[in-house]
Amino acid sequence: MLLPMDIEEHQTPVRIRPVRDEDRQAVLALAPRLAEGVAAWRDPGAATDAARRWLTDSITAAQDRRGAVFVADGGPPAGGVVGVVSVNRQQHFTGVTDAYVGELAVDPRAVRGGVGRMLMAAAEDWARRQGLRHLTLETGAANTTARQFYAALGYHEEGVRLTRSLEPEGTAS
Ligand SMILES: CC(C)(COP(=O)(O)OP(=O)(O)OC[C@H]1O[C@@H](n2cnc3c(N)ncnc32)[C@H](O)[C@@H]1OP(=O)(O)O)[C@@H](O)C(=O)NCCC(=O)NCCS
Repeated sequence: MLLPMDIEEHQTPVRIRPVRDEDRQAVLALAPRLAEGVAAWRDPGAATDAARRWLTDSITAAQDRRGAVFVADGGPPAGGVVGVVSVNRQQHFTGVTDAYVGELAVDPRAVRGGVGRMLMAAAEDWARRQGLRHLTLETGAANTTARQFYAALGYHEEGVRLTRSLEPEGTAS
């Protein structure tokens, strides 16, 4: 799939396309982005490690046609992969199968240029082609950028995960 779009007149057009094996390193380089907005009481290093595993598993799932991974290719500053989204199928507890976005990340040098919106459009398009009726995802409560982004794209909060610290002087309340 090619969705050519000029994100700015002087910049290389960004194209959304399915991930290729040779993208693996560039995609994994975006993993630290997925640790942003993680709760203050979590280990950001462990979150980045988890993000690398999720991205690796998502690429494998896409190769096995159990899901899809799309990359944004050709953006600033020097071309190459500037964003990634993974999407697969997930059963909701009501029994309905939803589409589920596992990871979405845009290179900090390419934000606010429409890349995230284009990646989500590709994930939504994949989900529609699968015959699915809802696309769901999770993000950190502290990730205000992502929450504003998803709200701008029409996503509604469906569940809230709560945490209480069990430490005497805990910070998670
Ligand atoms: C969230 C993220 C994917 C957004 O990507 P992006 O390419 O900058 O988003 P877009 O340029 O397509 O923005 C689309 C709209 O979302 C909203 N938006 C995006 N970033 C925003 C911000 N920092 N503050 C307020 N609104 C924002 C705006 O309405 C924007 O439209 P506009 O630029 O015309 O005003 C990117 O910031 C990112 O990779 N963050 C780190 C990883 C992450 O949090 N992933 C998602 C959670 S798993």
